[in-house]
Amino acid sequence: MKAGPGQADAADEQRGAAPGGGADGGAARLTGEGLTLAYDQRTVSEQLSVAVPDRSFTVVVGPNACGKSTLLRALSRMLRPAAGSVLLDGADIGGMPAKKLARTLGLLPQSSVAPDGITVADLVGRGRYPHQSLLRQWSREDERVVRESMEATGVRDLESRFVDELSGGQRQRVWIAMALAQQTPLLLLDEPTTYLDIAHQIEVLDLCARLHEEEGRTLVAVLHDLNHAARYATHLIVMRGGEVVAEGVPDDVVTARLVEDVFGMPCRVIEDPESGTPLVVPAARKNTSAARGV
Ligand SMILES: Nc1ncnc2c1ncn2[C@@H]1O[C@H](COP(=O)(O)OP(=O)(O)OP(=O)(O)O)[C@@H](O)[C@H]1O
Ligand SMILES: [Mg+2]
Repeated sequence: MKAGPGQADAADEQRGAAPGGGADGGAARLTGEGLTLAYDQRTVSEQLSVAVPDRSFTVVVGPNACGKSTLLRALSRMLRPAAGSVLLDGADIGGMPAKKLARTLGLLPQSSVAPDGITVADLVGRGRYPHQSLLRQWSREDERVVRESMEATGVRDLESRFVDELSGGQRQRVWIAMALAQQTPLLLLDEPTTYLDIAHQIEVLDLCARLHEEEGRTLVAVLHDLNHAARYATHLIVMRGGEVVAEGVPDDVVTARLVEDVFGMPCRVIEDPESGTPLVVPAARKNTSAARGV
């Protein structure tokens, strides 16, 4: 994983990234209203409004560079909107104390770089910072949460290894463990399945589904695999060119026309024989057998 500008230490990012507040049972705890999102002179989104339904597993899809990560950064206060506001439980996150935010909302950034020479257990332990204070230092509870987070992501046997000596997929699971250890009711994951083999991708998505179904947590994940998105999302947000072009339940949203419009890729959408959700099958190249020299 590479660090972008200002992303020297994702552990620090995570600490500062969380919003606070209690569940109000409302339709959306986290909303962006009239957002203009920009980097210096480059405007990515204008008048962007999104609502993350409470207790949903919301998945954001869209082509490269359409503004998915930028949106997640804004929703987690990593990027200050040039206009508009992000509301968490009705309050602007701009003015929320960092620890309160960090106990409520966690962000797994798309690119994270671990501090030099840090072990897996220590990095995952950093997810507990928002729960500590001068009066409440490292506790057995922290120990337990870190252990369970490593077990849930299958990295327990790596706990003494240095993070910078792991494979890309192992490292990704360590970052997910750190985000889990933060134990936030809202969790934003930017491409959590990147670098993972197919079995680990499904394991991580199943884990997300469990967090949402059994613990009532609200998850927002950026995914590139439309079939995973259609299978796991309870709410799907489709972006293109900095805008939300469609949202709703995958059954309604994922159509061949939408996929062609947004990604410029002809396809068929059939029913996933396992889950009954939409399955996107890219159209075969014309003259495939000629191309293969058959
Ligand atoms: N730190 C930055 N400084 C300047 N421009 C940026 C920065 N980060 C992203 N951008 C630009 O903002 C636009 C949206 O980028 P963003 O990272 O949000 O896209 P994305 O949808 O997450 O893409 P991907 O699928 O490739 O991760 C792109 O044009 C990108 O070049
Ligand atoms: Mg991105």
